[in-house]
Formats: sequence, structure tokens, C-alpha cells
Amino acid sequence: MTPSVDTQLENATSQSSETSSLVQKITLSGYILEPLKYSGSLDEYESSDVTTAIGREYPSVQLSSILDDERKIRDLAITVSRRGVVFFRNQDITSDQQKILGQKLGELTGKPDTSKVIALAVKRNISVDENGKLDDEISVISSEVNRKYYGGRFAKNSGLLASQGWHADITFEKVPSDYAILKITHLPEDQTGGDTLWASGYEVYDRLSTPIQKLADTLKAVHYQPSFNNVAKEHDIDLISGDRGAPENTGFDFKASHPLVRTNPVTGWKSLFGAAGQVENGWIEGVTKRESEILKQYFNQLIAENHDLQVRFKWGTNDLAIWDNRSVFHTATNDYDGKRQGTRVVSLGEIPYYDPASTSRQEALAQEA
Ligand code: SIN
Repeated sequence: MTPSVDTQLENATSQSSETSSLVQKITLSGYILEPLKYSGSLDEYESSDVTTAIGREYPSVQLSSILDDERKIRDLAITVSRRGVVFFRNQDITSDQQKILGQKLGELTGKPDTSKVIALAVKRNISVDENGKLDDEISVISSEVNRKYYGGRFAKNSGLLASQGWHADITFEKVPSDYAILKITHLPEDQTGGDTLWASGYEVYDRLSTPIQKLADTLKAVHYQPSFNNVAKEHDIDLISGDRGAPENTGFDFKASHPLVRTNPVTGWKSLFGAAGQVENGWIEGVTKRESEILKQYFNQLIAENHDLQVRFKWGTNDLAIWDNRSVFHTATNDYDGKRQGTRVVSLGEIPYYDPASTSRQEALAQEA
């Protein structure tokens, strides 16, 4: 059911008076009124699109210098949602500022006020800085921890297909992520390897034929992450069962049903969402098991085998990427032996919804032209 405009607006909370008038709120399971408009405030900075379909780089902006400028942060969120992923070089932003940024990107684009930054379900007990500081709201991305907890998949020459790594973050939660911010602080010693790739879910949707789009528009998929419980048992570590950044995200189930095609509330564009690693152990609902497997395999192939809807980023120390988990998939490259580490903030958005009135990216861009 579409919530009333009043309900959508009453959720407006923490924006300043300057930007609150720009923000249209999304209810937890509701529809935004119309796509958000970029105001042009980032045009003063040098930038370039990395590929046609996805990715933009701002080579000379320090995010710490625009953190208090709500118009710029809102424009940044809109740019990330439109381009899928945005890159910044050699950032001085601290992990605390990274959390503020993660929260602001969603707040300034209308996310529900109950959605915060996530606390990762599997407690890692790994410090976020050289002073030994622990912070559950920062997911420390660490090659050492990944190899310890998840073994072969993260080892060089694992024998697995690298393309098996595609996923979006924490989609097994009832309220999944809107934005993720990853700053890589330690690169493998020889500074080679560990690239990350992103693929556009908007463009995957646009590659489907109209009859298959129509089918996909009607379906839902169950996203399921069984490995957290296995890892916790095997390594005797605590899982966070309480509020993991939104009141709905509790318990040890790590399973959620979401629309297969999701409308991004910021752009108003449709994206394939129920695909890749997050449904590897899940299924498409309302079809046979075999149909579910065939559809999953086909969607995976579109993501992994179309390099013209992907972008690959070679990290330098302290480089940072921000992506929109609602509309892109990503995968790391495990082609190195040494230590690679970074700080990742994953913020939560709205309960995923499909708006039949929304358009595909290609349709929208054709209308804008
Ligand atoms: C992630 O999957 O969020 C981390 C990606 C990376 O380590 O490059």
C-alpha cells in the first residue's frame, strides 16, 4: 500500500532548515514522490565518468572538506545513486567522519529516521586504527580475517571462479543497505592486486527483454546468509542479535524476502536486486526450484560476463569508494598473498520496494536527453 504523503513527510527529522525543504522522505516500506534532483553543487570539482554505464571519479576532492555542506553531500548521494559507485583518491577522512558521511548520505536523500549505520552481525574484534580502537559500526575489511573465517574463497589460487564473489552488502536484512563507503588503508606490500569491481544492476535490468522484465517485475527473492551462524559456531565468536542499525534487523535468521526488481528511491530507476551472491543460498519465490536455479544462473551470467556494465578500480593507499548497494553488485579480487585492510561503513536505507510507475535507467536517460 502506498503510504500517505503526510506519513512520508512526518519522518523528516535531522536535516538543517536549508536542506530539509529539499528532502522528500521515504517511509520504511513506502514510495518516494519523485526522483531527487542534483543541484549542481559538485560541478566546481574536476570529475570524469569511468565507464559509460557505471562509475565516476573525483580525483581532487577531500571528503572531509565538504562533510558539513549538506547541499554537496546530498548531491554526492544523488551522484552515487546515478553512477552506482564514485571514487576519491588519498582521503584523510577518519573512521568517525566516515560514519557521519554514511548516515548523512541517506538522511539527506530521505531515508527513514530509524535507519542508521549497521553493526556487522559477526563481531570481528579487530581495531579500526593503530590505537586499538574497537567499533562495531565500522566493518574492518581485512584479508587476514577473511582468510581465517571464510577460508579458501579468500585465498589466492583458491581454484574457485573469481566471478563467484559478486554480491551486494547485507541484503539478508529486512532493512538492507543504501550506501557503503570503503577506504582501503593497507594495500598488499607490492601495491599490486586486490582491485574491486562493481556492476550496474540498472544496466542488468536494461539488458533483459521486455517479456522477461515484465516477469522479473512481479517476482520476489529470498536473500539468505547461512555462513554467519557457521562462522560463529566454528570460531566461537559472538553474533549481534539485537538491533543491527534498524529495529527490524534482529535475530539469527539472516534471511529476507525482497522484490527481485527494486526501485531506487533517489533516482526512481529500476534495478535487478535479487541476484548474485546474496541469493546463492536463497531462491526466487513462486516458481519451481529448477526455474529459480535457471533464473539465478542467468542473472548471474549477465552480471559477471558483461564487462561493459562493470567498472574495475585499482586502489592506492587511502583511496575511497562510495556505492549504492540498492543498484550495484561488487566483488573483491583475491589475487595477492599479503595483508590488505580497509574501513567500511554500511548504512541502512528503506525496506526495498518495487514501484510499477518507476522507469529503467535507459528509459529515464532517454527522457532526460
Ligand atoms: C566488500 O565486499 O564490501 C569489500 C570489497 C573489497 O574488499 O574490495
